[in-house]
Amino acid sequence: MASHDSSTTSTTASATAKARKRIWLTGASSGIGEGLARRLLADGHRVALSARSADKLEAIAADAEQGPGEALVVTLDLTDREAIRAAASQIEARFGGLDLALLNAGTCEYLDAREFEADLVHRVFATNFQAAVDVIESALPLLRMAAADGGERPQLAAVSSASAYLPLPRAEAYGASKAAVSYFLESLRLDLDNQGIDVSVIHPGFVKTPLTERNDFPMPMQVTVEQAVEAIVAGLARHRLDIHFPRRFTLLVKLLGILPAPLRRSIGLRMTRD
Ligand SMILES: NC(=O)c1ccc[n+]([C@@H]2O[C@H](COP(=O)([O-])OP(=O)(O)OC[C@H]3O[C@@H](n4cnc5c(N)ncnc54)[C@H](OP(=O)(O)O)[C@@H]3O)[C@@H](O)[C@H]2O)c1
Repeated sequence: MASHDSSTTSTTASATAKARKRIWLTGASSGIGEGLARRLLADGHRVALSARSADKLEAIAADAEQGPGEALVVTLDLTDREAIRAAASQIEARFGGLDLALLNAGTCEYLDAREFEADLVHRVFATNFQAAVDVIESALPLLRMAAADGGERPQLAAVSSASAYLPLPRAEAYGASKAAVSYFLESLRLDLDNQGIDVSVIHPGFVKTPLTERNDFPMPMQVTVEQAVEAIVAGLARHRLDIHFPRRFTLLVKLLGILPAPLRRSIGLRMTRD
């Protein structure tokens, strides 16, 4: 954590202090989450970093030591509800509330319908959907504290996927888990509105990360982590309801998603492997 009393940086520091947010970021150890962690810390925010890989989180925190931000490493496995509750207590003790809960952690496994495996679906849902619900349970009281303080409305945001817009082959588990995240957050948005909490859903297209490195199919209009981070940070600053990028790709997928079922079927069939 950097000191904020340096006279040479006092103007910048006080400007930053005004917009300084208390953030809980999950999936902070890799890919989009690591990019977000580094950016949010560089922007001077106070960021609780969560993932299983303690070494990676510690490295990000160490790199931010001399910068304007404050990192709190909260290592946890998101499939462990008690660990999530303990993490929230740790964050409350240090930050005294949350201005942004940014649920980014996720996993991807593709289903082989010839050897249908329900366990795979359970695993993907445990990380992508159930863990998100469990983090929300623990984060909401902290967001309500910020709402009670007045000022800018606190935010709950989750990284879904453009795959939520359009069912694709082999994406039964991943796509359904992300569609569940999108639906859940959009529904929750309505019920949190009068509690002073804003909800954003983030729908990235393809981003070059360790998660997509495993993909053995074409990924059109793939963007870099830096581009993804820029789009997410800009969208969150505007409290956008649906943050989707790259827009040429996501608008096309959205359009395909509202085509009549027979057309969606024939387009989807062209992407199958059999
Ligand atoms: N890359 C894309 O093209 C793309 C497109 C659309 C949506 N997304 C979504 O964007 C998010 C980030 O993906 P990414 O591409 O950056 O993937 P990534 O590099 O694989 O990062 C995934 C992050 O989630 C964390 N995580 C996974 N399982 C966890 C668990 N059980 N407990 C705690 N942390 C866990 C990982 O940390 P540890 O392994 O250290 O626990 C890691 O920090 C995901 O929700 C993904 O579905 C990605």
